[in-house]
Order: sequence, then structure tokens, then C-alpha cells
Amino acid sequence: MRIDILTVVPDLLKSPFEASILKRSIEKGLVEVYTHNLRDYTTTKYKQVDDYQYGGGAGMVMMIEPIDKCISKLKSERDYDEIIYMTPDGETLNQSIANEFSLKENMIILCGHYKGVDQRVRDHFITREISIGDYVLSGGEMGALVFCDAIIRLIPGVLGNETSALTDSFQDNLLAPPIYTRPAKYKGWKVPEVLTSGNFGKIETWREEKALAHTKNRRPDLLEGEI
Ligand code: ADE
Repeated sequence: MRIDILTVVPDLLKSPFEASILKRSIEKGLVEVYTHNLRDYTTTKYKQVDDYQYGGGAGMVMMIEPIDKCISKLKSERDYDEIIYMTPDGETLNQSIANEFSLKENMIILCGHYKGVDQRVRDHFITREISIGDYVLSGGEMGALVFCDAIIRLIPGVLGNETSALTDSFQDNLLAPPIYTRPAKYKGWKVPEVLTSGNFGKIETWREEKALAHTKNRRPDLLEGEI
């Protein structure tokens, strides 16, 4: 998978790709991530990327020209499956969207800043608009990082244990059951006996029951239409 991220603050996107799972996915050659500074695509003396809104109103708007130049250059070099715009009024990211995007080959992600981008960018270049939740961030960069993390960890070979993404919360509309590790007893607090019983049938049943109870308690909306 190749991801090209367009931004006016490339520094925000650096370190998350230099640690842990994202770093490993790049080192293994499973993912390539490139950031592009939209200021490098300006033609004005002061490298202007934003301007006042037509019609008046507070806040600056990202101009179409640098975005067009950057996207057009990338598109002349390869085909892209999707050109995504990170915005609070996009489709809300969930596990099923993450699963869908984890299968793509090449993607461009445009991060909004200031008030957002000129509407003509959205009308003529963008194929999907993604929000990471009902709150407003100062820019799309953090959203892009969340989105990249959610999809990259699903690419086969990225996680050490292939099955571990399959047992995540949300993967089957259930939250994950409680998990424990050594020691079996700490300050008198014990790990549930069934988990140390060695009876894998019983363990599976216990986990299913706990996952269901946890989901009913915390996120009953996930079970709507299922029971
Ligand atoms: N940019 C600003 N807020 C955002 C959000 N909630 N999701 C994605 N991009 C954003």
C-alpha cells in the first residue's frame, strides 16, 4: 500500500511513522508513506496556501491551486484508488470502513487546515471524505494518523500474530472480553480460574459471554438488530 499525505504542517506527521507498528510496516516493505508540503506547490512569492472566504466570514480557506498541482503531479505518476479528505463532516470512521480501506493499493489523503478547503477541491478531486469523530480538530493531520493506523494494522503481515486483528473489539460487532497476564494472583486479585484451566472450549465460551455482556453494558447500539 502507498499513502501520500498532503498537508501544510508536515512536521505533525513525522514521528508516528517512526515507532512501533507503523514503523515496522514500512520497514517490512508493506507500506510506503510520503508526506507532501502544499507550500512546495505554490507559485506566489510568500508561498501562500490560504486566503479569505468569498462572501466574508471568519477563518481562512485552503486555496485550490497548490492542492490541484500536488494531486495532478501524483496522479500523473500512478493510479490512485481513492483521494480522501479528512474533515469533521465526512463519514465517521469505523471498523468496517477501516477493513475496506486496508485493501486499497494507492491512496492520497488531504488534510484540511484553517476553515477547510475550497469546495471545488471537494467537488472535483475528492472521492471519499472521512471524519474520525464528532469533534473538531485543528487540522486533518491527527485524523489522517488515526485513519492510517486503523488501516495499516489490518494489512496482512503487519501485525506479528496474524489472528490478533481478528479478535479486536468491533471486528465482529462485539467489544473485546477482559484479558489477563501473569502473575495469576497479585495483591490477592486473581485471574478468573477458567483462563488457567487449560480447557479451551470453556475458555472460548467464557470469552464469548464476557464480550456479549460487556457490549450490552457499554455499547448496546452495536447489538441492535442482532438480538
Ligand atoms: N479535521 C478537523 N476535525 C476533524 C475530524 N473530526 N475528523 C477528521 N478530520 C478533521
